Amino acid sequence: AGLNTAAVAKGQLYFGTATDNPELTDTSYVTQLSNTDDFGQLTPGNSQKWDTIEPSQNTFSYTKGDAIANLAEANGQKLRCHNLVWHSQLPSWVSSGTWTNATLLAAMKNHITNVVTHYKGRCYAWDVVNEALNEDGSYRESIWYTTIGPAYIPIAFATAAAADPDVKLYYNDYNIEYSGSKATGAQNIVKLIQSYGAKIDGVGLQAHFIVGSTPSQSAQASTMAGYTNLGVEVAITELDIRMTLPSTDALLAQQKTDYSNTVAACLATKGCVGVTIWDWTDKYSWVPNTFSGQGAACPWDENYAKKPAYTGILTALGGT
Ligand code: G3I
Repeated sequence: AGLNTAAVAKGQLYFGTATDNPELTDTSYVTQLSNTDDFGQLTPGNSQKWDTIEPSQNTFSYTKGDAIANLAEANGQKLRCHNLVWHSQLPSWVSSGTWTNATLLAAMKNHITNVVTHYKGRCYAWDVVNEALNEDGSYRESIWYTTIGPAYIPIAFATAAAADPDVKLYYNDYNIEYSGSKATGAQNIVKLIQSYGAKIDGVGLQAHFIVGSTPSQSAQASTMAGYTNLGVEVAITELDIRMTLPSTDALLAQQKTDYSNTVAACLATKGCVGVTIWDWTDKYSWVPNTFSGQGAACPWDENYAKKPAYTGILTALGGT
């Protein structure tokens, strides 16, 4: 069995992967992406972000996002939709606009309502707000926070819920997979949304990890429990585990252990619904473009051969 088959047999909803539109011209890539034995869920890595979907105000462009939604549907895969409100990949009309509290709120609500309505019934979940926290757990000084204040977060969730009452609504961030100020900040965001009477269904743990510095299985499981105790589910939403290149047998063995521990933490947590890797092959990973000299972060190598990490995940899921 493959990763998704094994995950579903253990009661998870899916094992999935991110993908992106430029890769869809690569037919051998698409064949593996569409293999539901390994992947029961897709996330668009870029094409549902604000700069793609609403490049100028109130002009919406769904071609790229729809291509991935349509592929997932054709394959019978769930879709995690990503994302609605973020500080990054904003078009300049948003990031460099002149805003008041009222005008920015109106633009944010218009975006959320239009996008969530467009994808109504097609997403398992939406990442409604992405990366709203600094490392110390305080609010990131984004245009959203500095113009609207922390209320932009519950208002975004309430707006999404009004447009599609059935889709799961997530807060998604990185470095919230282990205990500390940022994880406490994420718990406080859940409580803030709930205190407004708005709906939040889940916390997404991105899990962009480093080989040899990945938090332990027990540390990850206890942090997940900190969220599920607030009445929300969790998911690992963007897992990858990078190393300083070149990759060696020792690094690949440690990476296998790190992937295994992370997937095992989700499996051991009631309320952890699934794991998504942030693309499956090193060929299309975001890591080398962002961290110079680092890479080899995915379970398949650049030639689409399975790495030890693949076996680590499969074994953690109880598969063979
Ligand atoms: O589309 C342009 C293309 O026209 C241009 O030629 C090329 C030259 O650099 O850039 C292309 O845009 C790039 C875009 O990905 C699409 O490939 C951007 O430069 C690049 O910065 C962007 O990176 C994305 C990154 O988010 C931006 O923050 C990654 O692909 C994407 O995987 C990554 O995903 C994020 C999640 O959304 C949130 N969590 C962290 C995660 C990893 O950074």
